[in-house]
Amino acid sequence: METKIFKKEEIPEAVELLKKGELVAFPTETVYGLGALATDEKAVKSVYAAKGRPSDNPLIVTVSDEEMMSRFVDEVPERAKKLIKHFWPGPLTIILFVKKGTLPTAVTGGLPTAAFRCPNDELTRELISQLDNPIVGPSANTSTKPSPTTAQHVYHDLNGKIAGIIDNGPTKIGLESTIVDLSVATPTVLRPGEITPEEISAVLGEEVLMNKDTTQTKGVPKAPGMKYRHYAPSAPVYIVDKEEDFQKIPHGSDIGVAALSSVLDKIESSNKFDLGNSIDEAAHNLFGALRFFDNENQIHEIYVQGFSKGAISAAYMNRLNKSAAGHHFKVE
Ligand code: TXA
Ligand code: MG
Repeated sequence: METKIFKKEEIPEAVELLKKGELVAFPTETVYGLGALATDEKAVKSVYAAKGRPSDNPLIVTVSDEEMMSRFVDEVPERAKKLIKHFWPGPLTIILFVKKGTLPTAVTGGLPTAAFRCPNDELTRELISQLDNPIVGPSANTSTKPSPTTAQHVYHDLNGKIAGIIDNGPTKIGLESTIVDLSVATPTVLRPGEITPEEISAVLGEEVLMNKDTTQTKGVPKAPGMKYRHYAPSAPVYIVDKEEDFQKIPHGSDIGVAALSSVLDKIESSNKFDLGNSIDEAAHNLFGALRFFDNENQIHEIYVQGFSKGAISAAYMNRLNKSAAGHHFKVE
């Protein structure tokens, strides 16, 4: 299969492909997603196959607005209405109980709930509203690899496996959406993202929990996707927590280092990846950095700067910890 790159004016062509059950990758403000008609069980199953993703991991249902979402729930709860009014379109995914029989089990992974998201990308919302039906939207990467932040990343992973990619340039945020579970008594953030629990709490006017162990809550898997090794290049990744420790890491042609410009300026290393000038820029560039080193065969170890301050640092460290399997660089 030839994977076609679609521009803005070719959206109707992408709509026709999706209607036929084909897969089309789409841009969002966070990362690129892999789209298939959410109500077409066969199309949804082919998403798991293209990504090589375990099928117990449910998929996000991507909608163009609240009205489209309301077709898949019995009632939109007040809390959801508040969050939608404030954050949509935007990087907040909301878990709600789903109306029985409206979505295939391939989407929900058999859970009584579904994850709804309305991305802030004009091309994608145009695509979904022309389709008049939601699309599933997992990140458009091969399972376990870093999420794609450019159409080229998607092409690298899925060329020949999907019908097309809608290219709208590099994504703005670079880390996936915040996921908040509204199917439980106290709203709970299952995956940190640019929108923080504090911001959600301020809009709801009530307490919001942050799920520390996102793999398991009382024996029930929460955000099942969070339990797998993720965002992982082939070479091991180490988190460097203190700027001064970059002076002590090994250097050489087989070592990759990703850090802020100001840190890179001070170190010796043949393979540097500039994460930019701020934590927000670093968040935007993290997955690109991991992919860059993954494509360089001679790299045997990767050292990446950690951050403890800034609104996005929880989301950044959550992804970095997964790619590093929790390994921090320690001075001997
Ligand atoms: O920013 C994003 O959210 C991107 C873009 C493409 O929209 N999408 C994305 O999808 O990150 P994915 O499939 O890579 O991650 C979705 C996460 C998974 O960890 C999955 O387990 C969880 O959402 N999830 C989906 N449905 C759920 C449900 N009903 N309850 C709990 N977690 C759910
Ligand atoms: Mg993903």
